[in-house]
Order: sequence, then structure tokens, then C-alpha cells
Amino acid sequence: MPTVVRTAAELRAATSGTVALVPTMGALHDGHVSLMEYARPLADTLVVSIFVNPTQFAPGEDLDAYPRTFDEDLQRCDEAGVDLVFAPSVEEMYPAGLSDTVTVDPGPLATILEGAQRPTHFRGVLTVVAKLFGLVRPDVAVFGEKDYQQLTLIRLMSRELCLGVEVVGCPTVREPDGLAMSSRNRYLSATERERAAAISAALRAGVDAGPDGPEAVLHASGKVLADAGVDPDYLVLTSPDLGPAQPGREARLLVAARVGQPRLLDNCAVPLGTAKNQGK
Ligand code: PAF
Repeated sequence: MPTVVRTAAELRAATSGTVALVPTMGALHDGHVSLMEYARPLADTLVVSIFVNPTQFAPGEDLDAYPRTFDEDLQRCDEAGVDLVFAPSVEEMYPAGLSDTVTVDPGPLATILEGAQRPTHFRGVLTVVAKLFGLVRPDVAVFGEKDYQQLTLIRLMSRELCLGVEVVGCPTVREPDGLAMSSRNRYLSATERERAAAISAALRAGVDAGPDGPEAVLHASGKVLADAGVDPDYLVLTSPDLGPAQPGREARLLVAARVGQPRLLDNCAVPLGTAKNQGK
């Protein structure tokens, strides 16, 4: 089993050589395991952090209900060859308290998409990731592409605040019907679970329409969602760094939709045709 450390001092004493970090909030599934397996050969010490970060949940969101499965998580970390599990308390991570503390301003990219729905979310995410980078001092940190805006912002933070951590994104791991793996999928009822498969189907339809240009992509994706009765919070096509999509270049198609209680996110790369092909 990996060594479990709870404090910064224990962490420092147990880490040696180069360090790879996979930050998580626990409730680990195969998607997390793929991040650990990717990270394992990258460094001498592989650290997985398990911390349900209160500052990225707004009042009324599912902080208290967020699944906590520590014993199963340890088992999965063990199977993936993790050396250290860093599982700090809230007090260890936020010694100055949750509100009267220094935070990271995530900038304008945090006001669109997820940030438009959850205005305080990315401040909380970047603040805790900056703290984890400072505590663990990783050479490399590995995140899933499923939370694409989060990955983009963490990359920007590491670069713009000169944190010296290489931020790597790994492809989304999917259920056999295409649903992106997520700790929140366990909240879906059987009928919601069936409807949720429309989200990844919509992305695939968007990719197929890629050669015909941006409008065709959004039309094809939107139709799959509408046919399944899924009303997206957003369905957008952007450049890979979340700017405006450019015909003839690779774009990113991002979707968020509530299916029953859980809000599901997914995204994929879409090679776009040139403007000449649009509307064909
Ligand atoms: O993606 C997550 O699980 C969380 O947002 C992260 C990056 C571990 C920060 O709490």
C-alpha cells in the first residue's frame, strides 16, 4: 500500500528524487487510474493527493455529499504503483481559514463556460492547486482533459506565475457507451444514465461534421442532444486554448448539461474544415 501522509512535514520527509503529482478529490475511478499510470514512469516519486477542496464548491453545491471512498481509493493507488498519498485536513491546507486567505485570481478565462455558471469555482481550484504545487513541489503534474477549462487554466497559472511545474493533460477515459468517467456519474439513475450517453454521442456527431465547418458541428451536436431531451448549459466550439474557433484548424467542442441532479461535462478535439467547406 502507498504511504499515507497528512501534513506538509510528513510529505517533505517522505519525498525524494523527481516528483510527479496527480491531484484528485478522491472517489477514484478508471479515469484517475489512467492519470496515475501515465504519471508513474515520469518521476522517482509518484504522489496522489486526495483532498475535497471546499473553496471550489459554492454554497448549495454538493460539498457535503461529494463521495468519499478513502479505503477503495488507497487500493486503486496501490494497484497503480503510487508511492505516497497526501490526504491533508482542511486546516492543513487552509491554516488561515477558508475565507480570510490569499487566493489566486484566475483571470478572464475563468468567467466563461464553467466560470459563467460557477463564478467562484476556478479561484478555488487554482488556489488549492497552487498550494499543492507549493507543498508537493512536483516536477510534473498530471490532470484529465475531461475538465478541459480547468486544465487550460492550471497550465496558464503554472506558466504565468512561473511555478516551474510541467502540466500534462491526459485523454478522457470513457464507459463502453462513451460516457466520460466522472465521480459524479454514480448519482445518475438508470434512465438518466441512458440519456447521459447522448453527451458523448453529440461530441462524436460534431467531430463527424467537422469538415463542414463550425456551424455544421454545432448543428449536428445540438441535434443529438435535443433528440435525447438533453438541454445543455452550453455547447460551444473554441480554439484549443478556449479562444475563438478557426476554420481549417483544430478546435475544441465543449458541452455541459444537467442530466437529473448531476451536471456533466465533456469535450473533444474537432479538426475543422476550411471556410470553403462550410455549409456544404
Ligand atoms: O479535478 C479535480 O479533481 C479538482 O478540481 C482538483 C484539480 C483536484 C483540485 O481540487
